[in-house]
Amino acid sequence: MAIFLDTGNINEIKKYLDFGIIRGVTTNPTILLKCGVTGGLEGVKQRSIDIAKMISPLPLSVELTTNDPTKMMEQAIEFSKWAPNINIKVTLHGPNGELDNLKIIHELEKKHNVRVNVTAMMSAQQCLLAAMAGATYVSLFCGRVNNMGYNSIEEVKKLRKLLDQFGLKSKIICASTREVLNVIEWLEAGGDIVTVLPNLLEGMIVHPYTKETVQMFLNDAAKL
Ligand code: E4P
Repeated sequence: MAIFLDTGNINEIKKYLDFGIIRGVTTNPTILLKCGVTGGLEGVKQRSIDIAKMISPLPLSVELTTNDPTKMMEQAIEFSKWAPNINIKVTLHGPNGELDNLKIIHELEKKHNVRVNVTAMMSAQQCLLAAMAGATYVSLFCGRVNNMGYNSIEEVKKLRKLLDQFGLKSKIICASTREVLNVIEWLEAGGDIVTVLPNLLEGMIVHPYTKETVQMFLNDAAKL
């Protein structure tokens, strides 16, 4: 699995898809807004369908835009019908700690056959519960964990161990990536996937010493 591109920008997705180095795409309302999506739900639908078609059969995560439990369930089922490779991002709880979300996550996975990416989680214990509820993906916001002064690598290691120990099949998504270094360190710690911004992906590829070495080859080739 390894790398999901964290963007709603069609051109960036096309570029890295053509390189063969991404295995999915993740979005959320904040990302879509930054990428110029407007027009409310219709705008979200259009951009999501465009991305889903482009990357098919790779998975696309689309996040719910409401916190009302009835509407969440309706939206999730509607979004999941936009394309077969769309999975639904649901936060573990609401902005005031509302607990309805876990029931919704469980029902989507078990009763409606909708794949869920449980998002905005900051600890291994939250992810463990999301995995027990049946989530296909559990998203640990590792960059935000680090920003709070905790060690995200330790959370990923703990989570890997717990999922393996209890035979839970959820894939660990390490999200909120802030540095190029995060990608390898979180994968090495046991993450299945890291969500990567396009500029960080370029940072993983381009190395100053590689540039210098390539220039040497070209210079010498010209002298042959
Ligand atoms: C990915 O699934 C997340 O939505 C994203 O990485 C969150 O990043 P942020 O912490 O920069 O908002």
